[in-house]
Amino acid sequence: MKNEVAVITGASSGIGREIAKNLSKRGYNLVLVARREDRLEELAKEVDTHCQIITADLANLSEAHGLHETVQDQNVTVLVNCAGFGLLGDFATTELDREIDMINLNISALHILTKLFLQDFIEKDKGHILNVASIAGLLPAGPYMATYYATKAYVVSLTQAINQELKNRDSQVRASALCPGPVDTEFNEVAGASFALASITAEECARYGVRNLFNNKVLIIPGANLKVAAVIAKIAPRSLLVKIAGHQQKRKH
Ligand SMILES: NC(=O)c1ccc[n+]([C@@H]2O[C@H](COP(=O)([O-])OP(=O)(O)OC[C@H]3O[C@@H](n4cnc5c(N)ncnc54)[C@H](OP(=O)(O)O)[C@@H]3O)[C@@H](O)[C@H]2O)c1
Repeated sequence: MKNEVAVITGASSGIGREIAKNLSKRGYNLVLVARREDRLEELAKEVDTHCQIITADLANLSEAHGLHETVQDQNVTVLVNCAGFGLLGDFATTELDREIDMINLNISALHILTKLFLQDFIEKDKGHILNVASIAGLLPAGPYMATYYATKAYVVSLTQAINQELKNRDSQVRASALCPGPVDTEFNEVAGASFALASITAEECARYGVRNLFNNKVLIIPGANLKVAAVIAKIAPRSLLVKIAGHQQKRKH
């Protein structure tokens, strides 16, 4: 067993929950973060390493600062920013408050935690940050899920830039962005969507993500089909990609 701690946000469900289980198997003690305490307690009983449960609404940014403060004295060497949600609908009519919550959670809380833990990791020249983005973050835009795609583009861009800065300063610390396509979780229920494409399990996604995190891969894209989609996204005209993305999102209604 390691004397190291992994902090995982969004650990009460889906990808975050499976990432937590995977890291526990690798010997990490866990700090499990989400709003639903009962779910976190259930997970804590399932794993063999020590778990600390922190219930926090990270869309409230003072709680993101509070999370860092609470665990600052522990030997945290892994941060997984997985808490996030999407919202399907026409931008003209989707609920503004919900979108601001999404921006606070998917962007601002992730940004705050990434910076605060990165500073600690740089000081000890050790640590990995896994920011859970999405394949949506590699596409130019996503009509009918406009805010969600924009938040994930932010995550990819921020993470890739930070990782380059870390390399430039010869740091051992690394930042990676996990960019899954459809994963079978509670995401759709929350977003009011259904998948237009085949999904993978959260366990598969987590296993691939964690393995490649420790292989220092910057953009982690689970699945052969998705890798092809990512290559196409690099070469196809932006306008065409936006049309295709919009068509796919409409099918999710
Ligand atoms: N599923 C997919 O197809 C897919 C594809 C690409 C990327 N992703 C990304 O993967 C990440 C995990 O999503 P998932 O698919 O595993 O969905 P999920 O099953 O709905 O899990 C979302 C997690 O985020 C937490 N969360 C939501 N709002 C929160 C808040 N305000 N404060 C703290 N925690 C909050 C939830 O916990 P509580 O509700 O208990 O707070 C839950 O643990 C997200 O960032 C999502 O964008 C998902």
